[in-house]
Amino acid sequence: SEEISQFTPTSAADVEQFRLKFLVSKGLVKALFDEFKSVGPEEKRTLGKVLNEFKQLAEQTFTDAQTKFSGTSDKQAKNEGDLTLPGEGFQLGSRHPLSLVRKEIVEIFKKLGFIVAEGPEIEDDWHNFSALNFPPEHPARDMQDTFFVEKKDGNDIALRTHTSSVQVRLMEMGKPPFRAIMPGRVYRNEAISARAHCFFHQVEGLYVDEHVSFADLKQTLFHFVQELYGEGTKVRFRPSYFPFTEPSAEMDISCTICKGDGCQLCKYSGWVEILGCGMVDPNVLENCGIDSKKYAGFAFGMGIERITNLKYEIRDLRLFSENDVKFLSQFETEI
Ligand code: PHE
Repeated sequence: SEEISQFTPTSAADVEQFRLKFLVSKGLVKALFDEFKSVGPEEKRTLGKVLNEFKQLAEQTFTDAQTKFSGTSDKQAKNEGDLTLPGEGFQLGSRHPLSLVRKEIVEIFKKLGFIVAEGPEIEDDWHNFSALNFPPEHPARDMQDTFFVEKKDGNDIALRTHTSSVQVRLMEMGKPPFRAIMPGRVYRNEAISARAHCFFHQVEGLYVDEHVSFADLKQTLFHFVQELYGEGTKVRFRPSYFPFTEPSAEMDISCTICKGDGCQLCKYSGWVEILGCGMVDPNVLENCGIDSKKYAGFAFGMGIERITNLKYEIRDLRLFSENDVKFLSQFETEI
């Protein structure tokens, strides 16, 4: 009985061990009772009492131990099986606003027959600058703007500063007509602030065929703006300069906030700039092996961050790369 009162089971297996030792038909309790039958009537009286207490102790210890171990697992089983309990929700991710807007831009141009093309982010001087008609001493090649990876005379390797490099790759690879948009990440050596970042995203557009004119460029971009910002959005073109287009222009749209009445965003002008564009310079066509007498083309390039800022009224570029869930979860859920 000392062994029984000291019994401290640590598992259901211990309890079972206890049962096998004391309580089964070949166990100790039964054996003692068998022995009891052969003692004299005098001893029976005292021994009977002791034996009964022993048996009760063994049985009580066993039931206590049994509820301790099988009791908890019973409870667990009940919980797991209760289908009326509320489920544990899991969080769905959301699309990054830049991906949302890139997707939207791509969809609009796909409907006009543009294919999507991509190129490398680490680019050589030829594709990022020389083929695009940048003179050797052009300031855009300056260390201040460009992240050089490897600087070798004549063929520097750098992080591309714009997606116009993909135009060159596309034209070198095939024959006109070309009708493509080229989304991608670009890099410029700028101090990070609310308005500038050392990397951002652009979508380039290129259309090269016989008889392509500036009117085609204007109508294509006009249509794009109506689709993206809604019918009635006005556009205007201002003369500009890019080494790889001639003539070149910058396109403004009527302010997305005040619709042209004047507000802080458009600095009370009613207009916001959204992209650069122009007719592909014949030198660029020739650099890519295309007959500039037979073919003409237009090109445009826009910053996805800028388009997104105007669409969602985001005022700080840094939000795009900080991965703050409070910011990101406000956008469309990924399904
Ligand atoms: N590559 C120019 C830029 O990064 C944009 C552009 C593209 C302008 C194509 C004209 C034609 O600013």
